[in-house]
Parts: sequence; structure tokens; C-alpha cells
Amino acid sequence: MSGLVTLHGLGRERLTGILDKAEGYVGRGPSTDFSGATVTNAFFEPSTRTRLSFERAAHRLGAHVMSFSPELSSASKGESFKDTILTLTAIGTDVLIVRHRLADAAALAAGWSARPVINGGVGSREHPTQTLIDALTLRQEFGRLDGLRMAIVGDIRGSRVARGHLIALPTMGVELTLVGPTPFLPQENPWGVRTSTDLDDELGDVDVVYLLRIQAERGSAATIPSIAGYARRYGMNAERLSMMKPTGVVMHPGPMNRGVEIDDSIADGERSLVLRQVANGVPVRMAVITEALEGGR
Ligand code: NCD
Repeated sequence: MSGLVTLHGLGRERLTGILDKAEGYVGRGPSTDFSGATVTNAFFEPSTRTRLSFERAAHRLGAHVMSFSPELSSASKGESFKDTILTLTAIGTDVLIVRHRLADAAALAAGWSARPVINGGVGSREHPTQTLIDALTLRQEFGRLDGLRMAIVGDIRGSRVARGHLIALPTMGVELTLVGPTPFLPQENPWGVRTSTDLDDELGDVDVVYLLRIQAERGSAATIPSIAGYARRYGMNAERLSMMKPTGVVMHPGPMNRGVEIDDSIADGERSLVLRQVANGVPVRMAVITEALEGGR
């Protein structure tokens, strides 16, 4: 594989192969496997977890990291996305990681650059490494993915994380239900998954409640009557947790809006996998960078 623009078309074997490779990196110390290689973070949207865990993953593999910040760069002088990608490639990088508000950004960059491109989250389209991280975290927790039931709750229409999950989690055997107020549910359902506007109805049946932030920067907050009303009907709290199976867990890709989609007691509680998801960002991104560097050689 050279790069990872999308999870579309990756079969179960391929996806499992990436998770196995990532598992092999869990707890592994620094190496010099790719010393001399350069990984570039081309992030045109804000990020904490994704950017820093790609950076740490690259360092753990012995690679150098170049980091591009739009506000400190010539993008702020009007340089186009295309010219920026061509410039970063010409400076010299072995892999480009792209985050951008445009859904096609990673695919476009892959077309312009001779280097492998890894999608670090584009528009509302897809966030492939987040999906792999969540699959690995669930596999560690339950020992399997097959037959697990997950409710994805919240602003699904605005969420690239949800879209990535819809592409790849069913391939690995996870059964998805999309839950939220109608304006947050997708207008079309090419995946043929269950949808529901009533979270309380779903809680008893699922192994995982996967919470999403309201994507205010993509205009989502204006599509519902009120944030407080949303929090009352869909916010994960102690009462709702008690309606889940005793083995049920809560996940969130971050950043969390505490008091809206998740209460403090849940976010910091023992059935939250949130920080394990964050920690798994490093081994998963090590696996994806490794495959990109091997494919690009
Ligand atoms: C997400 C993103 O940016 O797509 N965060 C992340 O990368 N873990 C989710 C979000 O912003 O809501």
C-alpha cells in the first residue's frame, strides 16, 4: 500500500492485517527502522490527537517530522492548497499526512504529489486512522469485532469519523445503528444500517455507545432547536449508562464537549475507552506510516 486515502475497498483481511501490525507496535520502544525518512504533517484544520500522535508515531519509527501550520505559512498569503502540497513534496518528504476541510483533499493531494498520502481527516468524508484506532481498541476490549453492536450517537451527518466507521466496521463484523435527531441522521443510507431517533430505546441492545461532537464549524449546531435539548435526549449520563449491558463501553474520538454529548462521570468513568483510543493512535499510525514508507520505496 502506498498511503491511505480511504478505507473503501479494503477487505476484512487487509483491515485485520493493519490492526495486527498495529498490535505489534503496542508498547514497543523507539526504533531506527526508518531513520532518514521524513514524514510531513500537512494539517489545514486544527488537531491535537491526530497531529501529535502521527508525530510521535513517526519519531518512534526513527523518522523526521516536518509540520506545516496554515496560519504560520504562505497559505495565509493566499497560496493554494495545490501549490502547498507541491511545495512540501519538493522540499522533500517521504509521506504526506493531510487534514483539510475539503472532502476530496487527500485524494487530490495523492494525485498531485509523487509521495504516498495518508488521510488525517477530510471534511465530513472520512478519517481512516480514527476508524482503525477504534477497531483496535474494541478488539482489545472484547477480544473480537465480529458480532459487536455499536450505536453511533450524535452529529452523523457532519462526522467524518462516523463515515469511516460506516465504510469499514461492518466489513469487520461490527453491527452499526445510527442514533440522533433527524437533522443529524444522514439523508441517505447506502450502508443499509439501522437508524433511530431514540437513544434510550437502543441502549439495552448495544455493546458500545460511540459518541460524537456536534460539528459546529460545519454548521451543524444551527440544524437542531437547542444544544440543551440535545444534551437531555442524547447526552450520555449515569442513568443511561445503567441501561446498558454490564459489559457495555463508551467511546468518543475527541475532542469531547463535556456536558453536551457526555457527562464528566462517564468521560472519566471506568467504562470509558476514550484515553485508550487516544493511546492507540500511536501504534495504529506507526503501522500506517510503515506501510506507506515501505510502499513508497
Ligand atoms: C475528530 C476529527 O477531527 O475528525 N477528532 C479526531 O481526529 N480524533 C472528531 C471531531 O473533530 O469531532
